[in-house]
Amino acid sequence: MNELDSLVESAVQLFAQSASPAELENAKAQFLGKSGRVTELMKGMAQLSVEEKKSCGAAINMAKQAIEAALTARRQALADAELQVQLKAEALDVSLPGRQRGQGGLHPVSLTLERIEGIFGSMGFDVAEGPEIETDWFNFTALNTPEDHPARSMHDTFYVEGGTAAAPNLLRTHTSPMQIRHAVQHVKKHRAALDAGQSMPEIRVIAPGRTYRVDSDATHSPMFHQCEGLWIGENVSFKDLKVVFTDFCRTFFESDDLVLRFRPSFFPFTEPSAEIDIQFQTGPLAGRWLEVAGSGQVHPNVVRNMGLDPEKYIGFAFGMGPDRLTMLRYGVNDLRLFFDGDIRFLSQFQ
Ligand code: PHE
Repeated sequence: MNELDSLVESAVQLFAQSASPAELENAKAQFLGKSGRVTELMKGMAQLSVEEKKSCGAAINMAKQAIEAALTARRQALADAELQVQLKAEALDVSLPGRQRGQGGLHPVSLTLERIEGIFGSMGFDVAEGPEIETDWFNFTALNTPEDHPARSMHDTFYVEGGTAAAPNLLRTHTSPMQIRHAVQHVKKHRAALDAGQSMPEIRVIAPGRTYRVDSDATHSPMFHQCEGLWIGENVSFKDLKVVFTDFCRTFFESDDLVLRFRPSFFPFTEPSAEIDIQFQTGPLAGRWLEVAGSGQVHPNVVRNMGLDPEKYIGFAFGMGPDRLTMLRYGVNDLRLFFDGDIRFLSQFQ
């Protein structure tokens, strides 16, 4: 049975040369497949006598088992080798320190906005939000700032194509358009009462959000935040503005040692107008006047654009800078830090 020995031998050799499972399966087919050499030998036994069949069959079976054993061993060896390669490639350095899942938190400006909303909420103000892409009408014209008004040049912004109500054309330069948007909604809701000569509930709202101007330095960013405030009723005066805003500042900065100054100014949509400055009496900023908001009595033309009779409805508006308030509250001196997204800076506020 020398022939069988050399058959086993050549199978073992071919299996050993197979470098991949696919190659090995091909090699197997040459011996154990349908027309493999072992299979052919089995078929050949048909012509043998019963005696010969017995001894020859047993020998072929042994050879077959030897080939199968070699195949199984080689399969295992290839699988082991593959596993080793994989283990090496995906090696895990168990001595490395674990990765921590950092705790997220609110951005300092978001913390300020939440604070502002909380304080004004407690004074009965609603919170409204509006679009950042605005129309010329809401951003300027409705606010008593017609085309060619010199005040427009202080509000250089980013324009986009379009310019109709359906296709707004600029990034809002302030949150003041929300005065009109919110008031118009409010008036619409109470139209029937107004038409019947009854009075409507007062408009008392703040509108925080993102605003844009072509400006960039340590205290100006092309995108910044504002928070509008508006209170319109039949009897709302400048005195109410002073009370509300003073109250707000003292609560926001948690300090009664804080003085406000209403410095005469100009805005097309308020008359009279005032810049609001605050002065801390103690602490690192003590003694300096710091501008925090623009404000004033809402201009009759603006009240008219709200859909109200300026002879009957009167009130005040203010627009403050939450970024500025955040800088003052935490003692940050560069506005850009808020928008760089540096986690080392931001994580200090958690
Ligand atoms: N919108 C003004 C600005 O951005 C601020 C302001 C708001 C002034 C409301 C008066 C009343 O400069």
